[in-house]
Amino acid sequence: MNTKYRKAIIAGNWKMNMLVSDIKPFIEELKPMLPKTKTCDTVLCVPAVNIPAMLRAGKDAKIACGAQDVSSYDKGAYTGEISAAQLADVGAKYCIVGHSERRAYHNESDMDVNSKTGKLIEHGVSPIICVGESLEQRESGLTMPHINYQIRAALADVDMTGLRRCVIAYEPIWAIGTGKTATAEQAQEVCGYIRSIIREIYGARPARSISILYGGSMNAKNAAELLAQPDIDGGLIGGASLKPADFATIIAATGADNE
Ligand code: PGA
Repeated sequence: MNTKYRKAIIAGNWKMNMLVSDIKPFIEELKPMLPKTKTCDTVLCVPAVNIPAMLRAGKDAKIACGAQDVSSYDKGAYTGEISAAQLADVGAKYCIVGHSERRAYHNESDMDVNSKTGKLIEHGVSPIICVGESLEQRESGLTMPHINYQIRAALADVDMTGLRRCVIAYEPIWAIGTGKTATAEQAQEVCGYIRSIIREIYGARPARSISILYGGSMNAKNAAELLAQPDIDGGLIGGASLKPADFATIIAATGADNE
């Protein structure tokens, strides 16, 4: 991390877990374990139906609320979808886009990720744009070209002002939910590469300011080592964000900033 130039962000991705009745007890357990001085922005990206309850419960603990997906359309006849305007209206500050589970199970394309990113920016919600390679791609030496493509596609037509809202999450697909974390070196290598792409497109200053997160089996044990890498500014955390003690340990690890 390098908090001189950019924000540290720890974002939980609850995926399709938890009921409304679980939220208050979760936050009540988490809150006393949080560091006394704020060392990062903390976000919980919850199922859309849980956003109002999370906003109420998270307020005191200074936990922002995020969504996990958004429609690529403005409004109208899109049954089941939720628009960026509706997310902003309800109070979501962040929204995950292009998570590999959505790309895999809902056929989300890079074009979809790009239009969703655009809609969120338009409505003042920060997109957390997920990119990452499969094991096959890694083993065939295709990690960097794939990441390069995904980043450029997601950010096509995003101007400098729009970029300021964006957060990028590097999530190697083979590390998600598998307990198989990328090594700190592997994660740093790709996060550093992502920053170099941003530098190429937008220049040095935006590249220095953008927060790049790592995600994929980040947990209470490996967080400190990952966060000590110069280009890893936080984490997108699935499984471990469902356990208050583990999530608190990861948040506390941002305090060990060693820039
Ligand atoms: P995980 O999930 O931490 O359970 O691997 C991360 C993610 O999917 O964002």
